[in-house]
Amino acid sequence: MKIIRAKDYKDMSRKAANIISAQVIMKPACVLGLATGGTPVGTYAQLIDWYNKGDLDFSEVTTVNLDEYRGLPRTHEQSYWYFMQKNLFEHVNVRPDHIHVPDGSNPDAEAACREYDQIIRDVGGIDLQLLGIGIDGHIGFNEPGEAFELGTHCVDLTESTIEANKRFFDGNEALVPRQAYTMGIKTIMQARKVLMVANGANKAEIIKKAFFGPVTPELPASILQMHPDFILVGDEEALSLV
Ligand code: F6R
Repeated sequence: MKIIRAKDYKDMSRKAANIISAQVIMKPACVLGLATGGTPVGTYAQLIDWYNKGDLDFSEVTTVNLDEYRGLPRTHEQSYWYFMQKNLFEHVNVRPDHIHVPDGSNPDAEAACREYDQIIRDVGGIDLQLLGIGIDGHIGFNEPGEAFELGTHCVDLTESTIEANKRFFDGNEALVPRQAYTMGIKTIMQARKVLMVANGANKAEIIKKAFFGPVTPELPASILQMHPDFILVGDEEALSLV
């Protein structure tokens, strides 16, 4: 485990983008595992900036995203597909047929998850997986208590996640999807390199517990202590307790 300290959010985003761009430069036809959420937005903005300056080329890159709400079509503004288009894909030259996000519009959960694991196998596995961390230690939609040995699977969203997400659905809890398809911990651990970004004081406690405490399914991110090539890039606030 390697921990890289950044001054602030901008510095964290720049350092993380540097690691991703090194991956793309060293292996132009690499497979990037990507995340949504607030934390990586600055990292994507930095990658877009370098792409616009001619320093980065995504033409051979393949992407696989961590997760997607079950029941939302790609066109829905709260789908993770839509988020990725707006925050990265529309702005760089990733080939549309190289972009993969679990198919939230497929009601057959088993088939959707099986197909996604097959896609990850077919592209040769993930070279670099980008992750954020939830304040309860979740990664992807793998909430506390999830078995470590799962591949892509369907999860029920916890009440606290539904509550936290309703602000994106006109404040109407009834509109928040109840389930999601997510890469499992096994899928994430099989990535050749894992890069986590974390910022803000509200992540400090969980960062300390996850990476300086016992490895337990009750804290899903803690398993990353066992990954042979795990890098955490955090700002001063997120790393204030370690
Ligand atoms: C995103 C994801 C989530 C987030 C986590 C942190 O695809 O799967 O695990 O990484 O909830 O979210 P933010 O970055 O908004 O704090």
